[in-house]
Amino acid sequence: MKQWLAAEHINRLAADPVHCTRTKLNLEIDSRRPFVPEDYTQLYYTPVYASLSFEHRLRYNQLFGLRINEYIMMLEADLVERLVTPLLRRPHIAADLALAQAMTTMIEEERRHFSGFAALNRACRPDLYPLGKDRLFSCLPGWTKAMFWIVGALAGRLSFALWYLMAMEESSMALARDMSRRPETETLGLLDPAFVAVHREHMKDESRHLHIDGRMIESSIGSGIRAERVLNAWLFQSMLRGITRLTRSGSGVMVIHQLVRDMPELASREEEMVQAVLKLTNCRPFQESLFNRRIMPKTFSVFDDTPELARLGEKMIGYDRR
Ligand SMILES: [Fe+2]
Ligand SMILES: [Fe+2]
Repeated sequence: MKQWLAAEHINRLAADPVHCTRTKLNLEIDSRRPFVPEDYTQLYYTPVYASLSFEHRLRYNQLFGLRINEYIMMLEADLVERLVTPLLRRPHIAADLALAQAMTTMIEEERRHFSGFAALNRACRPDLYPLGKDRLFSCLPGWTKAMFWIVGALAGRLSFALWYLMAMEESSMALARDMSRRPETETLGLLDPAFVAVHREHMKDESRHLHIDGRMIESSIGSGIRAERVLNAWLFQSMLRGITRLTRSGSGVMVIHQLVRDMPELASREEEMVQAVLKLTNCRPFQESLFNRRIMPKTFSVFDDTPELARLGEKMIGYDRR
């Protein structure tokens, strides 16, 4: 047992409003402000970025910020329930009443986060997210739908996607922290305070979820027989390929298309931007920005302690095994 809080402690924190994400925030967005640090966007890692004008970079940043919110929402809606609900049916997890309670609370909190990010995106761009439409960039491509289906089908027995969930929860906290610590972007001025505030609030629940992830990994993957752990490691590494590979149908390219719809004067450069994004599959600095020890130290320490993930660095470029 290592750094994880006891489930009883997690539940006490979850009952204290000071440690919980507030959802009723002021969503007055300043359309002249960027939404996310520039190094959290894809084009930033391409030569095209510096050649775009201020206005084009600003709009791209804002659209990419919406896409980041949708990505977090996708995990909250599609992955968490599919993964956590079957785990709750495992006898030894169900018997741990405190852990089961923490997991149930987590599912409820993720539902609230989904609504919170959907409202934020609507406040940023009501034209793109009319009431009833929450997804623009995260209409899942075929492989992701298949992957989530497999995750759900196997979750009761093989919980490899918990490693991914933990990585994503920890990186959403790193984003919120980076936004708070360096609100001034490299070339676009100050981040929008209302956008940052939603992410900062989100971090409160997520910092507890990370401990629940740690506990769930211990009691599912960690308690399995060796053959299951090997299979979990194999499935996780296979899943990563779909996550780190940029495709024409992916959300990053959809952001480019929306940028050109917003600013038609960029039409002649659309294919150049798409090509630049597709090349990121083989761009080391970009791949390292997705998974690295600075933004996900706890997740990486879990990987370090898992013998079956000894060769993870071959699939996850930013993983430096210790
Ligand atoms: Fe969340
Ligand atoms: Fe979470």
